[in-house]
Amino acid sequence: MFNDFRTESDSPAYIQLKVYIETLITQGVMPLHHKLPSTRELAGLLGVSRTTVISAYEALERTGWIEAVKGRGNFVSRAAVHLEEPPSIIDWTERLGPQAFLSEEMDLMKHGIKWEKGMIAFTSIAPDERLFDMAGVKRAFLDRMALEGNVLMNYGYAQGYRPLMEYLLGYMRGKGVETEGKDILITNGFTEGFDLLLTAIGQRSGRILCENPTHHTAVKMMKLHGFKPVGVSMEHDGMNMDELRRTLDEGGFDLAYLTPSYHNPTGIVTSPEKRMELLRLLGEHEVPVVEDGFNEELRYSGAHAAPLIACAGIGNSVAYVGSFSKILFPGIRVGWIVADRKLIGYLESLKRARTIHTSTLDQALLFQYLHNGNFERYLKRARTEYKRKYELAVQGCREHIPMKNLSGEGGLHVFVELEETLDARAVLEDCRLRGVVFTPGDIFFTNGRGKNTMRIGFSRVPEDRITEGLRIIGEVVNKHLEDSGILSDPGKGGGSYE
Ligand SMILES: Cc1ncc(COP(=O)(O)O)c(C=O)c1O
Repeated sequence: MFNDFRTESDSPAYIQLKVYIETLITQGVMPLHHKLPSTRELAGLLGVSRTTVISAYEALERTGWIEAVKGRGNFVSRAAVHLEEPPSIIDWTERLGPQAFLSEEMDLMKHGIKWEKGMIAFTSIAPDERLFDMAGVKRAFLDRMALEGNVLMNYGYAQGYRPLMEYLLGYMRGKGVETEGKDILITNGFTEGFDLLLTAIGQRSGRILCENPTHHTAVKMMKLHGFKPVGVSMEHDGMNMDELRRTLDEGGFDLAYLTPSYHNPTGIVTSPEKRMELLRLLGEHEVPVVEDGFNEELRYSGAHAAPLIACAGIGNSVAYVGSFSKILFPGIRVGWIVADRKLIGYLESLKRARTIHTSTLDQALLFQYLHNGNFERYLKRARTEYKRKYELAVQGCREHIPMKNLSGEGGLHVFVELEETLDARAVLEDCRLRGVVFTPGDIFFTNGRGKNTMRIGFSRVPEDRITEGLRIIGEVVNKHLEDSGILSDPGKGGGSYE
């Protein structure tokens, strides 16, 4: 007893000793009524000050673990309470419902590509944390805490932190959105926003229209909510409109989920003409739209394309879900929904019922960071850095990888379509042996297609490694082409995705 106690420097020694003794008691090493060593004896034994032991004993006494008996010393007064025999052993897998199984089955962190240290990983599309403006973040934190730290640490409001809500409504007006008759709800990123919308929407047809391929998390969530995602193929400028018309004529939809800017995974930006046509068609069929504003800010070139919610003007059919996850800080998990005021009212009640509210501290930090004028400065820098990597990735893909198509007009990833006969997962297996991984494209498809596609995320890969990694992928693809008897033609196609 006590011979394995070691103090670490990052918390007070008396607390470490208290926790150590609590563990001895709960594990039964010190049974009920066991006498503890005197404070002088224990201090000598452990090589700590007597004050440390006295403080630990006092804390243990306050929480009822030990009792001081005058003139006799300290005794264990509360033993760990557990039955001699466990009441029952539950097989939890037998108690779970379909949502638990489906979410586990579709969990890419558990069943996706395994990454090992030193590998060139094109799997992530998270921002590069080396770009984060930490001086701005620290200043924002201190500024806000000095102003109202105590308020921020109390409960906040389900709809959100008022200064951030107003800032973001102004930000949306800057994108051309008519906010009259609309309102805003702060969420834990896009993911919670979409989850709330899927919870709120009643199932009539049980079908949701979306791009094919589309964001894997969105597919997972639609399925978890019992909806069937029905995908419409993508062309280089957005959805295939003929296919969309046919699909809409074939049956009703409860919702359309669309990502018109830097669509994940193809990186395609839907053209202004198609945005208008989409709205007209969906309007005719009375299908409400959830617009994912993903990566709108990371446009490196080309004219500004207004979000669908802006194109809809005073119409109320579009619910826009915004997130700064790919530009600013995904770790603080702050996103928002701008939509019809009535709808937001219901979503607010759902949010309150589920999580009460998004962390006010996180919201306030984001607000102050934006309010201090850091966003534009940071965005300019991030765009420059990511644009360089983007150009390197496009050039590397074209130079080294024989392919049918390359798409991606910006953002943090490009999407490659290999020859029809190739299996991107088999290519991935061989690339992995050579220290390079990417995301196989089939996970993004709603209909089991895309076996010959891959998403290359470049945001967190150092520049020299981007070229090296793409060269290796190219060599492996060439080998697979040779094995299947097809001659390679590096970089064929490019710029479009059919
Ligand atoms: C299409 C799409 N939308 C939104 C997000 C952001 O989600 P969140 O705000 O929950 O981090 C992502 C992240 O990868 C995405 O791919």
